[in-house]
Amino acid sequence: MRTITRTPLTSLLAVSLSILDLVSAAANPIGPNPNPKRGLVYVPNKKNPTPQDDKIWIQAGSPLTWYYNYETKPSASLEGGSTPLEFVPMLWGDYNNTLIADVDDLLAKGYKIEYVLGFNEPDNPANSGTGGSGIPPESAAARWKESIEPLAKKGIKLGAPAVTGAPSGLDWLKAFMAACSDCTFDFIPLHWYGNFDGLASHLGTYSAAFPNQSFWFTEIAFDHQPVAPSQDFFNMTMEYFDRMDSVGKYTWFGSFRSDVSNVGPNAALLNQDGGLTYIGAWYLNKDQKLAASVTGNDAARTRGVGVSLLGVTAAAAVVAAWLV
Ligand SMILES: *[C@@H]1O[C@H](CO)[C@@H](O)[C@H](O)[C@H]1NC(C)=O
Ligand SMILES: *[C@@H]1O[C@H](CO)[C@@H](O)[C@H](O)[C@H]1NC(C)=O
Ligand SMILES: *[C@@H]1O[C@H](CO)[C@@H](O)[C@H](O)[C@H]1NC(C)=O
Repeated sequence: MRTITRTPLTSLLAVSLSILDLVSAAANPIGPNPNPKRGLVYVPNKKNPTPQDDKIWIQAGSPLTWYYNYETKPSASLEGGSTPLEFVPMLWGDYNNTLIADVDDLLAKGYKIEYVLGFNEPDNPANSGTGGSGIPPESAAARWKESIEPLAKKGIKLGAPAVTGAPSGLDWLKAFMAACSDCTFDFIPLHWYGNFDGLASHLGTYSAAFPNQSFWFTEIAFDHQPVAPSQDFFNMTMEYFDRMDSVGKYTWFGSFRSDVSNVGPNAALLNQDGGLTYIGAWYLNKDQKLAASVTGNDAARTRGVGVSLLGVTAAAAVVAAWLV
């Protein structure tokens, strides 16, 4: 179906691109470009790899400036694009690991490693199936002192463990910091799944608990929502994050195809064919006419195609460009 749709459209490429140049120059940008805060949380599809999608994030003109992949080593498919992204290593859980050696190795190879991230959702049980590393605060503190803290002496900025958005997350973080009172925390990563009021309140709670801290939102989405609230939330959040001094950096949770999204299809930046959704286009500072679909859903995609022939043609052009 994709081939049938795109073949005739691609032949219109030259014509449509010149029209596009006129109409889309500055129609829908959200935030500055490049955006020092905006990054990529890279979640590859391990069952059915789609490495061709990865080029989307590093294409020329991408406002993204950094990424993490929950691992200590960079992802090869995000290297060497027109827009280089700064890699931020993470020590995901409490295990014997190579974080310090890997950082040393990357520095020796000339990588710019300014930051590392601590454990992922340690307050979330490891067997919950939702990405928790399930570490008791005291064990996390011991592992931190051994495997993360030494990087502070090398001038690397350390992100505290990223707890869940549940109230138990704050309790966990306070207990961890009490057990790690002589440890270094340069910023506090946070996760949020919910609506905008909840997000603003969440940041308020953490700002009160940790005054004068910088917060990174390393996972964020209004999950499993219809299209309109998903897009509303996206727009409000981007404006808010870009404006708030206490928000150091952020990554939208949805840099994967909608059919493998565990936060619902409408939070995804890519549709099921790997084309940008509207929020995907906005996240990359592109006009929504360059998106392949309004959202990740099949039904919504059909509606999106109906919106404008120019939009569809542009999508074909963009896909063609990525493949080059
Ligand atoms: C969200 O922002 C985009 C890009 O600026 C804009 O085109 C769209 O109308 C906005 N949508 C909502 C619901 O505010
Ligand atoms: C931890 O990993 C290192 C490097 O892989 C290895 O040399 C060492 O024996 C491991 N230590 C333990 C306690 O497993
Ligand atoms: C911390 O306080 C200093 C001095 O008031 C201020 O310049 C800085 O922006 C604050 N940092 C954050 C993250 O709020």
